[in-house]
Amino acid sequence: MKLVKIACFILLLFVLIANGYSAEQKVKLGFLVKQPEELWFQNEWKFAQKFADEVGIDLIKIGTTDGEKVMTAIDNLATQKVQGFVICTPDVRLGPAIIKKANSKNLKVFTVDDRFVGADGNPVEDVPYMGISSTQIGFDIGKACYEEAKKRGWNMNETGAMVVTHDELETIKQRTDAEKDALIKAGFPANNIFTAVNKTLDVPGGMDGANVTLTQNPTIKKWLVAGGNEESVIGAVRALEGKGFDGNTTIGIGLGAGAGLLEFKKPGVNGFFATSAISPYRHGYETTKLLYEWVKDGKKPPMKTLTAGYIVTRETYVKTMTELGLADSLPK
Ligand code: GLA
Repeated sequence: MKLVKIACFILLLFVLIANGYSAEQKVKLGFLVKQPEELWFQNEWKFAQKFADEVGIDLIKIGTTDGEKVMTAIDNLATQKVQGFVICTPDVRLGPAIIKKANSKNLKVFTVDDRFVGADGNPVEDVPYMGISSTQIGFDIGKACYEEAKKRGWNMNETGAMVVTHDELETIKQRTDAEKDALIKAGFPANNIFTAVNKTLDVPGGMDGANVTLTQNPTIKKWLVAGGNEESVIGAVRALEGKGFDGNTTIGIGLGAGAGLLEFKKPGVNGFFATSAISPYRHGYETTKLLYEWVKDGKKPPMKTLTAGYIVTRETYVKTMTELGLADSLPK
């Protein structure tokens, strides 16, 4: 009897220790994104979840489309005993408020895609950030637009270059400034470069911005299109289609790894010619891993990581993306 009691006691002790241990070890993280309907962010979430499943942690994914939703989401995460979150904020100027709130709840913050801007208007550099090499990628896109037009023997004097931008966002401005820069450096006439403004970074936003530019420039015969993301370029391509332009008179090059790939899957050829494929794997899986190691082991992540882009066309995207380990984000 005594032996049974001792055995029970040891078992109980074991259970208590095991429970206490796992309660202490259990990591819970959040991943907040500004546009949950955008494929790019869905793929980020997918890869973040992949990491969470591999290490067996909880990941709470919340779409936070405005400032109020971000603040509520942080409260929600804190209530669920989350220790940190990755965020692509709906407005970079919310940065200081997000940091303050996260600090008050003892949550670590890792920014992805869009870097916080401080009260002084400068980027916040003391919060870890993973973004894309915007200037390099934009430059490659501008150059590729020019080269394709040259290859097709287009007369540059009757060709317009529409660059769809959203200058409030540092990363988008860097991309589109570099696109214009590359076009000019390649020899494209600067007077034929037109900036279209998209109020929102989705397809309707790109389309509205492009329609204004097209109405103002009715004599242009052929168009090159670049922008801050795939949605902006697709929106412009749709606006051009509305005015009778097609794959023979439009060369659009996007930037992303989502909506643009769906354009490639459409039958025939349209004005969406290529895209610079960026990595939702790195922005989802790797950010979550870095945050996890920070929370779990106190290992500070690098403050700034910039990822690359690779220009792909409808002929090359499957091969290139598979080689880049992005086969999982190819549309089915
Ligand atoms: C910004 C854009 C997104 C995507 C990411 C990539 O957040 O709005 O569409 O391009 O950058 O970093």
